[in-house]
Amino acid sequence: MDRCPVHTLLDFERFATGTPRALINDLRAKHRILRETDDYSGSHWLVFRQEDIDHVLKTPALFSNAFSPILDDFPPEVLAEQQKSLTFMDPPEHRKYRTLIDSAFRLKALEARRPAMEQAAREIVDAVIDRGECEFVTDIAMQMPTRVMFDLLGVRAGDYARVVRMVNTLSMADDPDFAENRMLGFQASMDLIAFGAELAAEHRRNPRASMTMEVLEARVDDRALDDGEFGRLFNNLVVGGLETTRNTLALGLHQLILHPEQYRLLQENPALVPGAVEEFLRHQNTVVYLRRTATQDMEFLGEQILKGDKLVCVLGSPNRDPAIFADPDRFDITREPAPSRKHYRTFGQGPHYCVGVHQARLNLEVMLAEIVRRMTALRLLAAPRHTRSIFMEGYKEMRLGFERSA
Ligand code: HEM
Repeated sequence: MDRCPVHTLLDFERFATGTPRALINDLRAKHRILRETDDYSGSHWLVFRQEDIDHVLKTPALFSNAFSPILDDFPPEVLAEQQKSLTFMDPPEHRKYRTLIDSAFRLKALEARRPAMEQAAREIVDAVIDRGECEFVTDIAMQMPTRVMFDLLGVRAGDYARVVRMVNTLSMADDPDFAENRMLGFQASMDLIAFGAELAAEHRRNPRASMTMEVLEARVDDRALDDGEFGRLFNNLVVGGLETTRNTLALGLHQLILHPEQYRLLQENPALVPGAVEEFLRHQNTVVYLRRTATQDMEFLGEQILKGDKLVCVLGSPNRDPAIFADPDRFDITREPAPSRKHYRTFGQGPHYCVGVHQARLNLEVMLAEIVRRMTALRLLAAPRHTRSIFMEGYKEMRLGFERSA
């Protein structure tokens, strides 16, 4: 039987035990841009350097989002639906919708949420602390982003599990533990949009304070969003916010287990928590790449790019570039956070730069601070299991043992 060729980078086998970061370092050192084949429409261009990634992500007139930020070729009816959503839009249309959600995630709005998040973190740890062991991904890492996001959007507690299932199927659609085939992933995104539309309709019937209500009362081009438009924003927010935050916490905590001296340092000096979170984000970026699509023929980095070509920005590449970070492969929570924030590309760049960046940091900081305060002697009970994906690195299971801090 014919076997698919192994691709240079974006290949499921190469990602079986996580992002092949040494390979990315090697490719960045050798190539400014590199064409590789794929199992979708044939091939794509890999872009590695920070300045080149920034150029692609900041120039939507040449490099469009309209065909998705992931490599997959969407079935036409799914693509037509998704193209009406924020993550597939280009400016100026994109800005109109983005403005609707920006204010809910500004720092000031977030600080008001901090006490509720700290309370949630206490409850999340309360639920496992006496057991002495847990499955970290589900029992802890997924809990905080889910509670925060669903509370904000006014999702009823009885619906939490159903929405999490849809998000898991969508974002882990290449992993047979979550979706039997890729089509189920596309279906899950349509289901999430339908759920969001129903959430909007239900808010109109029973108005209550929530971000959903605020968005429904706002105006785009002098008119209110309809339920379907809200459903698409809902889809973007839950897909953008849950798995990413969950994966970052699990990947980062694993690094602390591999470096117990750094965990002890955090226990002795909790003021290091924000720096540790930046190091999680830099060293263990979960979103592997962002795709853009060329809007015209052009020469770029010495190569002839054709209209419709896919450009793939490898986000973790600048994060580990020795021209930017000293000893970049070393995990070190004592690095200065400000330069990391400025130079890593974990949250993308340009008009689609992550809207939830402050929320993500606060989620991670509050949860990590609670873990460090209350849990000690952390150890793996089994090797963590990676999700099968070339787009998003994460664990589907990480079994931990621990003791209660005195
Ligand atoms: C560690 C956590 C997170 C990571 C690594 C992350 C990463 C990213 C990246 C790389 C993008 C750029 C997509 C593109 O350019 O096509 C993005 C966009 C986005 N993120 Fe995040 N994200 C995180 C947390 C969050 C949270 C907590 C939320 C929700 C509050 C969120 C909501 C979004 C949305 C809605 C977009 C699309 C923005 C747009 O298209 O204008 N993300 N995120």
